[in-house]
Amino acid sequence: MAPASVDLASHVLMKRAANSKRIIACALVAHLALIRPVAAQSAQTLIINADQGRDTISRHIYGQFAEHLGRLIYDGIWTREGNGPWHARADVVQALRAIKVPNLRWPGGCFADYYHWRDGIGPRESRPTVVNSNWGGVTEDNGVGTHEYLDLIRQIGAEPFIVGNVGSGSVREMQEWWEYLNHPGKSPMADLRRANGHPEPWNVRFWGVGNESWGCGGNMRAERYADEFRRYASFLPGYGSVRPFRIATGPSDDGYAWMEVLMRDAGFMMDGIDLHHYLLTGSWAKKGKATDFSEAEWAELLQKATGFDELLARHSAIMDRYDPRKRVWLVVGEWGTWHQGEPGSNPAFLYQQNTLRDALVAAVCLDAFNKHADRVRMANIAQAVNVLQAMILTQGDRMLLTPTYHVFEMYTAHHDAVRLPIAFDAGVYTYGDRSMPAVSATASRDANGRIHLTLTNVDPNQARAIRVELRGQTANTVTGRILTADRMNAHNTFDAPDAVHPAPFTDVRLSGGIISVQLPPKSLVALELK
Ligand code: AHR
Repeated sequence: MAPASVDLASHVLMKRAANSKRIIACALVAHLALIRPVAAQSAQTLIINADQGRDTISRHIYGQFAEHLGRLIYDGIWTREGNGPWHARADVVQALRAIKVPNLRWPGGCFADYYHWRDGIGPRESRPTVVNSNWGGVTEDNGVGTHEYLDLIRQIGAEPFIVGNVGSGSVREMQEWWEYLNHPGKSPMADLRRANGHPEPWNVRFWGVGNESWGCGGNMRAERYADEFRRYASFLPGYGSVRPFRIATGPSDDGYAWMEVLMRDAGFMMDGIDLHHYLLTGSWAKKGKATDFSEAEWAELLQKATGFDELLARHSAIMDRYDPRKRVWLVVGEWGTWHQGEPGSNPAFLYQQNTLRDALVAAVCLDAFNKHADRVRMANIAQAVNVLQAMILTQGDRMLLTPTYHVFEMYTAHHDAVRLPIAFDAGVYTYGDRSMPAVSATASRDANGRIHLTLTNVDPNQARAIRVELRGQTANTVTGRILTADRMNAHNTFDAPDAVHPAPFTDVRLSGGIISVQLPPKSLVALELK
């Protein structure tokens, strides 16, 4: 008989399948209203209103997610010699530093509502082993716990984002973890922390109160979870200047009713609400493949990515009714592509390859987050290493950077920059009965006054000529980089780790204040204007 967690997972997947259909329909209606066909060779005009920047693109939109799942924690970020202690891999740490990871969500995911933090502290030999029921029923020895995670956070220069256990934990357990992490003085938990070798508090602020409480985190109804959230959040006291940033479990996909109830009943006590949205081809029961796909599947996935904008707009509209001053962050705590696992891998480990298609999906989604920067202040792609839409894949001592990693690197220019409103005719890419905006973009101004424009052409066949008009600021030079490849499914392998990587971009001219760009098919171009 299948374990209970499998039934639970299918329930969640069925719910998601129904949700996705509704999202596609809404997105299509929205896009048909926005798009106007243009002649293949005529330049599309894009206006950057450099004098109208208002919102800052929070660097926390570029967050990562690390769950105890498959080969992410053990044999991904952490490694060990023989049976020795686990330590973070230097090459992985260096790669994560290079994309300026702002925050790393941990320990799950579904795992978070199974996790008892005391299992993961103290001498390694005395830590109990546990069964990871959600992800393959594997046994883990808790070799990576609170101290190891926070040491990684220090090494990569990120902020911690910890998700506490509501589903199978208790208020007391969560309160004591909070105290262990943050109490600066004398207290039972602070003394325990000191006894375990860490005298100073870590000052953790981002705090998830459960995960997917509508599904693997307890299968609660919205009203019930809203009350649970209020109860748990009541026992996270401030210590000195350290205050909890309380993030509630948000909806899945277009679960607008969940958003409504949570904002209505618990909005006043939360600082963020955590929306989850995955992108896939086919159905949850029969997902498409990561590297072996047709143009129809390319179009299907990219169209779903362009639908993120509409999804965020509708969730934001609900939040606006209860929180017009936009105090509560919309946190997209899990997002990304979800394909069939790689042949030969354990299906419960969610190990998938990552192609140029995933990279352009990431760029389009990040553009949507940036566009909603007044409400979307944090997001976490799932997941950092070896799981789902990963930045990094590892095999033994070897490591590769995926095309999605390069997008995150190219978008570091937008971290904490002022979003500049743009107006443009995005053109249209059509395949069969699917149509979507062909070009997606973000413009921002960084602290040094430089303007950054990222442009993504999702059309795999047709180049796009773009004429960029900069209003309210002048630019004297333009430089660029490009991420593209000859095939839609181009990807990096351990034998050819640089098949897809950014290269200098020269098909751009600046003349009379106008920037002319020729965007190749299926490409991301990042421009810097000075
Ligand atoms: O990211 C994989 C899983 O997807 C997470 O554990 C869960 O929160 C979501 O359903």
